[in-house]
Amino acid sequence: MNILLFGPPGSGKGTQSSLLVERLGMKHISTGDLFRSAVKNKTKLGLEAKKYLDQGRLVPDTVTINMVEEVLFDMPKGSFILDGFPRNVSQAEALVGLLGKAKKNLDKALFLEVPTEDLVSRLSGRRTCRSCGAVYHVSGKPLKNGKTCDQCDSSDVYQREDDKPEAIRTRLKVYADSTSPLKDYYQKKGILVEIDGTGREEEVFKRIQSKIKA
Ligand code: AP5
Repeated sequence: MNILLFGPPGSGKGTQSSLLVERLGMKHISTGDLFRSAVKNKTKLGLEAKKYLDQGRLVPDTVTINMVEEVLFDMPKGSFILDGFPRNVSQAEALVGLLGKAKKNLDKALFLEVPTEDLVSRLSGRRTCRSCGAVYHVSGKPLKNGKTCDQCDSSDVYQREDDKPEAIRTRLKVYADSTSPLKDYYQKKGILVEIDGTGREEEVFKRIQSKIKA
């Protein structure tokens, strides 16, 4: 079962992907994580992508599509989750070609639905471990000891530049203009599954799991 997890920024795509990886052994392809890793390592891709990420704008399609193509071709067998790609209809069209070339298919497109006011508080309170990528929230999921990452003990737990108010506003607008039309796109393809993304992480996970099994 290969799935696409999409939804507005802060809807819980990364959180739910981690649970799917941990419990169902799925492979996770997150374009946001790939770009952040390139930025951290100061690669050519990272230097090009950084300004877009910091401002909450989309990295140009050609750059993004080429990056995903490499990952799909290098990926070992097994079920995968696409998180953060595609982000607009032209990326979705490109994905059809990439999957065909890689002889893989997409079974379901799961849309995580969360009200905008919840998104803003989730994003503005999010903290991320720079070392292992673990995700926290200042009130909803704080660090257990208040100082270091629960998973890797790094003290470098930071607020993403794009989780600051101006970038959040841009990301929500980019989502509304470019990404939300994907709902119609996948509805027409007959693979759209809508999931209520509110409630505790575990509750959302159970809803996802039941849709994957269905
Ligand atoms: P990306 O990292 O993909 O950002 P995003 O889509 O905006 O998603 P987020 O990572 O912000 O949120 P999420 O839905 O994963 O939520 P999370 O689980 O962390 O992309 C970043 C940037 O990269 C883009 O802006 C763009 O520049 C570039 N990019 C990426 N893909 C691209 C593409 N295809 N084309 C072009 N550019 C691209 O949760 C958020 C918070 O909520 C956390 O604090 C978490 O603890 C909390 N939370 C999670 N679940 C719950 C719950 N059920 N209840 C309460 N709190 C919860």
